[in-house]
Amino acid sequence: MKIYVTKDKKEMNQKAAEIILERIQEKPDMTLGLATGGTPEGTYDDLVNDHQQHGTSYQNITTFNLDEYVGLPSDDPNSYLSYMREHLFNHIDIPPEQTNLPNGTAEDLEAECDEYETRIHGHGGVDLQLLGIGENGHIGFNEPGTSFGSKTHIVELAESTREANARFFDSKDDVPTHAITMGIQTILKAKEIVLMISGERKQEALLRLLHGGVSEDFPASALKEHPNLTVIADEAAIENK
Ligand code: GLP
Repeated sequence: MKIYVTKDKKEMNQKAAEIILERIQEKPDMTLGLATGGTPEGTYDDLVNDHQQHGTSYQNITTFNLDEYVGLPSDDPNSYLSYMREHLFNHIDIPPEQTNLPNGTAEDLEAECDEYETRIHGHGGVDLQLLGIGENGHIGFNEPGTSFGSKTHIVELAESTREANARFFDSKDDVPTHAITMGIQTILKAKEIVLMISGERKQEALLRLLHGGVSEDFPASALKEHPNLTVIADEAAIENK
């Protein structure tokens, strides 16, 4: 595991964007795994600025997002598809058909999970997976207790996760109860993983990631066994008061 500590969230986001841009230079048709949430927003801003200023092209890039809520229409402002369009896809030159998210409104959700998993691997797998982390250590929407052998599947969201994500919705009741997420095994198959951790609320999760054991009670601990993991944490996530 490689660790970078940055002064603040802005620098953390920049560092992640730098790594992504380096990889795109090396392999302009790479497959990028993307995450949502508050943590990566600044990284997407940096990628958009770079695209506008330096013209980095995404014409040959393919993306796979980690997860999507179940039941939100794709044009709902809180769907992860809307998030990705707003923060990244609408501002770069990636062809929409090369962007992939699970379809949370599929009639047969189980079949959608299988198809998504097959699509990722059929495409040759993810070269670099960007990740955030939940306060309880969830990655994607893999809540504590999820098998490390899990593939793309439907999850019931933990109450704490619905509460943490309620800030994006009008009320907690509006937060969907279920989501489709890449499984932990799916995530671990990425050739490289970049995990960003920011802010005081994540201190405990970071501490446990760095110093705790590997256990299904703490999904992010699975990452410790990945051969190419970079953790970028800001000082607020590190300081222990
Ligand atoms: C959400 C997402 C995760 C994300 C995490 C942290 O539930 N499914 O992919 O990493 O929670 O979110 P945030 O970055 O807003 O703290």
